[in-house]
Amino acid sequence: EKGGHPDFMIKEILEQPRVVRDTLVGRLTGTGELDIDELGLTYEELDLIDRVYVIACGTSYHAGLIANNLIEAWARIPCEVEAASEFRYRNPIITPTTLVVAVSQSGETADTLAAIRDARIKGAKVFGITNVVGSPVARESDGVIYTKANKEIAVASTKSFIGQVVSLTLLALLLAQVKGKMNTRQVKLLFHELGDTAEQIQWIFDTQQEAIHEAALACKDAHSALFVGRGMGAAISYEGALKLKEISYLHAEAYAAGEMKHGPIALIDPGFPVIAVTTKSPVYDKTVSNLKECEARGAKIIAVATEGDEDIKQIADHVIYIPPVRDAFSPITATVPLQLLAREVALMRGCDVDQPRNLAKSVTVE
Ligand code: F6R
Repeated sequence: EKGGHPDFMIKEILEQPRVVRDTLVGRLTGTGELDIDELGLTYEELDLIDRVYVIACGTSYHAGLIANNLIEAWARIPCEVEAASEFRYRNPIITPTTLVVAVSQSGETADTLAAIRDARIKGAKVFGITNVVGSPVARESDGVIYTKANKEIAVASTKSFIGQVVSLTLLALLLAQVKGKMNTRQVKLLFHELGDTAEQIQWIFDTQQEAIHEAALACKDAHSALFVGRGMGAAISYEGALKLKEISYLHAEAYAAGEMKHGPIALIDPGFPVIAVTTKSPVYDKTVSNLKECEARGAKIIAVATEGDEDIKQIADHVIYIPPVRDAFSPITATVPLQLLAREVALMRGCDVDQPRNLAKSVTVE
């Protein structure tokens, strides 16, 4: 069942290039229209959408952080992302032109489900991103995109996260197209680049295992670790920190790098691990300058950087490379080494990576 792999987690991590391909297969028609499983809304209805909430829990929430960036950048619709357990207990502004996007691997998380039921009663349109065909989230949404991760067994979500990010990227492209912010040519170009991330993930598997192993050795005995980045790098950091804490029980926190000097930098003492997402992006220099402040206080810096970036070696003790990629797509590749890092650290600490303590794969009670 594990296909010769020592655990399901690694099997599922290694499947991610396939998940990217399968989630995209057949999605772009010859005329450049995006083909969604169940659109459930007419283009006219979509064009009227003037507010988007992405609601989800845990790792799915982190996929939502990425969607938030893309929907605002590309479709220019105000978008908020919120934990379903928060959203359902406040009184968000919902009108018939509000789109609620629910992201749930299992499609049955209690808070997410309750949130979409409530949102529909209040008149919102609901779009589901889920891995389980016919799940409650799929059934109770107007439109659905299925992630093609296939069954995920390890409790910590890896491949379904990648499927979610790819699906949400499609949704953002669709909204941009319907809103007239992108033409067919632009959509096609981005669609094909999105597909290229499959090979880029494979490149990480083929070339970065040793670097990831060294980085894991460098943080396995720490009591705590900080993950930092800006923009997409911040979203990736949140997911990296969650993965590390849930399977290795090493305390980890993530911060937008610009927030470091407002508190967290007090934690840094010599040897403290800081895992930084410093891929090439418009905020690269800003992140590097935050890292210099950490370095000056003795932090042990592990950087996830873009292949070809030699300068980063001046401040980072360990560098894990990803191939050059458009910032919008960097979460798809840059998250992968952090999944592998979390798994290696967990194994070094003697943890069961597939069945972390206190956690269940599907959270159907509140
Ligand atoms: C973390 C993890 C959880 C889930 C969360 C939501 O690795 O797996 O945080 O992401 O419980 O689950 P779904 O996506 O099924 O709603």
